[in-house]
Amino acid sequence: MTPTILLLGRNGQVGWELGSILPTVGLLKACGRGEFPIGPDSLSEFLDNLKPSVIINSAAFTAVDLCESQPIEATLVNVTLPGILASWAARNDCLLIHYSTDYVFDGAKDAPYLETDTPNPLNFYGRSKLEGERLISELAPKHLIFRTSWVYSLLGKNFPKTILKMAQSQDRLTVNDEQIGAPTPAAFIAAVTLVAIKIYLTSSDAPTGLYHLTPTGSVTWHDFARQIISQARLLGWPLSPELPILFPSYGPDPTRPAVRPINSRLDTSKLTADFGVYPPDWSYFFERFMLTLKTLSLPS
Ligand SMILES: NC(=O)c1ccc[n+]([C@@H]2O[C@H](COP(=O)([O-])OP(=O)(O)OC[C@H]3O[C@@H](n4cnc5c(N)ncnc54)[C@H](OP(=O)(O)O)[C@@H]3O)[C@@H](O)[C@H]2O)c1
Repeated sequence: MTPTILLLGRNGQVGWELGSILPTVGLLKACGRGEFPIGPDSLSEFLDNLKPSVIINSAAFTAVDLCESQPIEATLVNVTLPGILASWAARNDCLLIHYSTDYVFDGAKDAPYLETDTPNPLNFYGRSKLEGERLISELAPKHLIFRTSWVYSLLGKNFPKTILKMAQSQDRLTVNDEQIGAPTPAAFIAAVTLVAIKIYLTSSDAPTGLYHLTPTGSVTWHDFARQIISQARLLGWPLSPELPILFPSYGPDPTRPAVRPINSRLDTSKLTADFGVYPPDWSYFFERFMLTLKTLSLPS
C-alpha cells in the first residue's frame, strides 16, 4: 500500500527540497505555516484524519538571535510541536523524522562531536532544540533525528546569499574566523532523508535514533565567506566595484544576543555505518551551489 507521508515546514530550506523528492516514495501531504494546528488536541485530530505512516518535521524557529527575545514562540515550534508529533507517532506506529542542530553543543570539544557526546547548549535556540530532541527520543519508539549544521539552499535566507548580497554593496566585510563547521546544503539533507525513508519502508530492522548529518571537512565563517567571494568573482558575479575586503573577527559578537559555539563540527561515521551514506567534502556541494545560483540568476 502507498504510504502517506506528512511534511511540516514545506516552505523552509529543507522542507522545500523534501517537497520535490518525497512524492517518489509515497503520497505526500505537505503543509506550511497556518496549514496545520500546533495545539495538542487540534494537531492530534489533524493527524487522526490524515493517518500518515511517516511524519517529517522540518518546521522550526530557526532565527537563533530572535529565540532569545521570543522564547514562547520558539518553544511552541521547537519543543511543543515535536512533543505532540512524538506522542501521536508512538500511539500510531508512525515513523517521526526530525532535524536538530550543532548548537546543542557548547563547542568546547577539540574534535568533531559524536552522537554520544553530552550536549550543553549556549543559547535558547540550542536549548529548545535539545528539549525537542529529548521529547522525541523518550516518547516515539520509531524516530530519526538528524542533527545538521550551517544549512544553505537556493531558496531562503542563508549565509552564502547574505555574503553575496553584502559583497555587491559593501567594500569591507567582517566575519568570524574562529567558529568552525560544515556548511550543509538542504538538498543533501533531503536526499539522505529519502534514503532513510526508503530503507524504513522496505526493511523490518531499519535504523532509528539520533544521527549527525553534514558533509565532511570544515571551514570557519571567515574562510567560507572568502570562498563565496572568490567563487563569485570566478563566475563573473557583479560585486562591489571596490574589491570587498574581508576582515576576521574573534570572540562572541556583542551585536548578537545569542552566543555561538566555536566548534560546530559533527562526526558522521554513525550515518555512514548505519545508512551507507558517505558524505563528500562540503566544498564539493558548495561549488555546484554557486554555479547553479549564478546560472539561475536568483536574487541573493
Ligand atoms: N538553518 C540552519 O542553519 C540550520 C542549522 C542546523 C539545524 N537546522 C535545523 O534544520 C531544520 C530545517 O531548517 P531550515 O534551515 O530548513 O529552516 P527554515 O528555512 O527556517 O524553515 C523553517 C520552517 O519552519 C516554519 N515555521 C516556523 N515557525 C512556524 C510556526 N509557528 N508554525 C508553522 N511553521 C513554522 C517556517 O515557516 P515560514 O516559511 O512561514 O516562516 C519555515 O518554513 C530545523 O529543524 C533546524 O532547526 C537548521
